[in-house]
Amino acid sequence: MAMPPPTIILTASQIEFYHTNGFLLLESLTTDDELAWMRDTYDRLFDEKVGWDEGAQFDLGGTDEDGKTAALPQLLGPSNFEPKLKETIYRANVVAITKQLLGDASDMRGEHMILKPAGYGAPTPWHQDEAYWNPAFDYCTTNFWMPLQDATVESGCLWFIPGSHRWQVLNHQSIGGDVRVHGLELVEGQIDTSVGVACPIPAGGVTIHANRTLHYAGPNTTDQPRRAYIQGGGAPPVKRTEPRRFPWEEAKQTAREERAHASRKP
Ligand code: NI
Repeated sequence: MAMPPPTIILTASQIEFYHTNGFLLLESLTTDDELAWMRDTYDRLFDEKVGWDEGAQFDLGGTDEDGKTAALPQLLGPSNFEPKLKETIYRANVVAITKQLLGDASDMRGEHMILKPAGYGAPTPWHQDEAYWNPAFDYCTTNFWMPLQDATVESGCLWFIPGSHRWQVLNHQSIGGDVRVHGLELVEGQIDTSVGVACPIPAGGVTIHANRTLHYAGPNTTDQPRRAYIQGGGAPPVKRTEPRRFPWEEAKQTAREERAHASRKP
């Protein structure tokens, strides 16, 4: 299985912008043909609910009961279900750009898809991605967020707080304080989120953000689905010398976890 060569090289000013602000916008990381193929593949993976039984597909924004309409369907590791996703120009660019931003020891680190269905896709509240991860490690990662159709404020493009990538991991909780919900939100009152910057981008473009960059996406109020295909890159996590705890992760009791646990039983 071979990845095509990358098609993009960042300029020095783009690299500086990323390290100063904790995010960056790029107009195109793929081709029209590949974009159309990824969109078809994306819709098929969600239509077929691949990975549901083992907890790889679930509702990020709701309680995720069987048969209930998902507020924010998410699929982890889509290339496990469609291996050709490992051979995309998009992925080649993710690897090359991550090496430019974070050094040659960096590589691919996971991918997922988040769908905001037309007309009702729920907002993704303000959060830092690191808040979801194992608190025993330190991270240095980039997250590439590609919409497979134009992403506007109305359809749920990403918003960032410039400079927040240099902050600590702030206090989070499950969305709405409901521990049955996988998705996290920043506990209110810690920072002023009104300084957030909206980042609309065309189909096939990306926003890139760091593991602690605070970000948000509004609801999808348009009549088209908002498909986001996210790929992460970075150096391997490093075990922390000082332990820390993420109590919001310890508190979670999700249906997704139950399905994942049950599917691992012999
Ligand atoms: Ni995020």
